[in-house]
Order: sequence, then structure tokens, then C-alpha cells
Amino acid sequence: MIKLNENYLKLKSSYLFSEIAKKVNAFKDANPSADVIRLGIGDVTLPLPKVCLDAFHKGVDDMADASTFKGYGPEQGYDFLREKIAKFDFQKYDADIQASEVFVSDGAKCDSGNFQELFSNDITIAVPDPVYPVYVDTNVMAGRTGESSNGRYDGLVYLEGTEENGFVPDIPDKKVDLIYLCFPNNPTGATATKAQLKEWVDYARKEKALILYDAAYEAFIRDESLPHTIYEIEGAREVAVEFRSYSKTAGFTGTRCAYTVVPGSCMIYDKDGSKHSLQALWNRRHTTKFNGVSYPVQRAAEAIYIGDGPEQIRKLNDYYLRNAALIRSTMTDLGLSCTGGVNSPYIWVKCNMDSWKFFDNMLNKAAVVCTPGAGFGACGEGYIRISAFNMYENVQIALKRICDALKKV
Ligand code: MLT
Repeated sequence: MIKLNENYLKLKSSYLFSEIAKKVNAFKDANPSADVIRLGIGDVTLPLPKVCLDAFHKGVDDMADASTFKGYGPEQGYDFLREKIAKFDFQKYDADIQASEVFVSDGAKCDSGNFQELFSNDITIAVPDPVYPVYVDTNVMAGRTGESSNGRYDGLVYLEGTEENGFVPDIPDKKVDLIYLCFPNNPTGATATKAQLKEWVDYARKEKALILYDAAYEAFIRDESLPHTIYEIEGAREVAVEFRSYSKTAGFTGTRCAYTVVPGSCMIYDKDGSKHSLQALWNRRHTTKFNGVSYPVQRAAEAIYIGDGPEQIRKLNDYYLRNAALIRSTMTDLGLSCTGGVNSPYIWVKCNMDSWKFFDNMLNKAAVVCTPGAGFGACGEGYIRISAFNMYENVQIALKRICDALKKV
């Protein structure tokens, strides 16, 4: 008899964004003429930047000629891309990261979900609340939690993000072994200063803990006092892994390319307390379970670093930041307090009511999709997340509809 991994029964039946998609589809079936505007899941709408398209086309042409054709590539990614990542995403900020420490992949969601495979099941895990659900659900699947009640799993340490701490969680008062952090934050859009990250790095060094740092939204940072990478913090090379993605940075949600940095100096301990290289273990996992990102896609990703690439990427992200500013100012004018939307494409709005009810109201009365804060954890109750990823004109229409709907409530 084929038996189930019973940890799956602890999960909610659907992943957050699948649950929302189901509700939106049901609404569309019932209202076929409704023009639904999606400011829910963070999915880009602008086409790929020209530099990426040109490099993508050229990459495909290379596959058409035996002299430039590529079969299996290196699982860790081609050197042409890894070297540019190290130079332009890290060394530019005086962060000591080498190409050999970069593992190119098809998504930060997959990497942040898969990385937990390297850890023992008896570690103590700290997750922010609200949180990107992948960090939690993948640990539930692996059996590192008990059952859930009131939106929280037994066994996890929840790091609360609240108005009081500006949605940057405080260091826990107990010892934890693994810490998930994400800045600029999904879902709140909050950012962490160098001093705040330093506290986390110091804590992790003291406790021999590891930080899994998700910097998928780094490209939206405009305040130059903010850290672009955790490796700007002294000592982070010993205790932090960083996830990055081209999904939002370069409009690659449908193209798929990302990377994870695992520094050679990051150590993990066996039951006897002996050290092992985390990088060697991740390399072992990656080479066993992954066969690399396609060559044309890696060429398209490389293009963001050269020639007109940086300027085109900045323009692309500035477009969404303009949407974010409009969303934030409109919500603020409605008297709702907001976080994010500056250095971030997400606006975290205090909706002062049950967040699923607010979501239903917006869908039914304005045909606008947002994401209910409760879907990101108990601390998300009373909030909604609005994504800035859509065309400016649609954002304007959506905001007008939201204003009209709220005035009628
Ligand atoms: C989100 O909306 O939170 C993200 O788009 C989800 C993701 O990147 O997987």
C-alpha cells in the first residue's frame, strides 16, 4: 500500500496564491464581463527588457549551429553569468562574494523551499510573521513542525512584524538554529538597515545559527543607505545564504532564472558538533536534483549587467515603483496607514477589518484582486498586500474602483 507523508495533512489544502486564483476564477465564472485587475500575486506585466530579448534570441541562434550548440550546462550555472553576478551584485557593494559561491537556478521560490533539505529535523526554526508562505510550508512538509492552530504551527518560533517594530522583527529571546529573513520584505515592503541586519548576523554567529536571507526584491532599493545584500554586513559570510531572483528584477517570472549564494565559509554541524561545508552539501544536492538553467535564459540574464542592461533594468523597476507610489498615496489619502511601496513593489495596508472580508469586498465590489494579510500569517490579520506589478493605467483604474467601493462601505 502506498502511504502518505502525513505532514502534508497539516497543510492548508491550497497554497495561498492558488486559493486566491480559485476565488478569482469563481468570480469570473459568475461575472464573465467583469474586467478583473490583478494586484494580488506579484507577477510582472511589462515585456522583457530589450537587452535581455536580444541576448535571448542570440542564445537561441547559438543552439541552431553545431559550433555554438550547448548540451547540458554546468548545474551551478555558466561562468559568464556567475562572474557577472559576483562582480555587479556583490563586489560592487564591497561584499566579498566569488563566482564559485553562486548557484544559478530556475527560481528563488524553489531554492528557498529546497534549501531546508540540508537540515536535521530537530532544529529550531524562526520565521517572520507575516511571512512568504513557502518558508513555512516547506518545513511543514519536511516534518519540522507540529499541527497548526490559529494560523500558527507548533514548534516554529514566530518573529512578529508589527507596526511597533516597523515590520522588522526583533531578535528572539530564545536560541534558534535557522532564521528566515526577507528584505525588502514580502509581504510588508519593509526594509532593514545595516545596523538591524548586523544584529541578526551577530546573533547567528553567537548561536552557530544560519540565516536564509531572501533578497528577491533588491532591485527596488533606491535609498542608498540600505544594504543591497546581507554580505555587506561583517561576518555574514559565515552565517548567511542569500536568495536572489531575476523574476521581478528583470521581468523573468515566465522566463525563470534566479540564484543562491552559499559562501565557502558557511559551516553546518553534525550531531557530534563537527563542521561541514554548507556549500559542498548544497552543491551535492544541486548537482543531484537539478540540471541547470537553459543556456539562452542564462544569456538573457547576463544581459542585465552589460551595456544598456543596468539602465533598462532601472527603468523597468522604476515603472513599478511609480505604481507603488500611487497606490501608497491613494491608500494614505483614504486614511489607511501603509508600509512599503518605497524601495519595494508591495504596499502593506492596514485595512482595519478581517483581511479575507476586505479581499472579498474588493473582488466583488471593485473587481480588484489584492492579497489578504492573514494568508501570510496571524500578524497579517487586519492588513492587505497590494502589489504594484501591473500597467500604470490599470493601477489608476483599480485605485479609482477601490476608492468608490470603500466610500460605499
Ligand atoms: C508573491 O506574490 O508573493 C510572489 O510573486 C510569489 C513568488 O514570487 O513566488
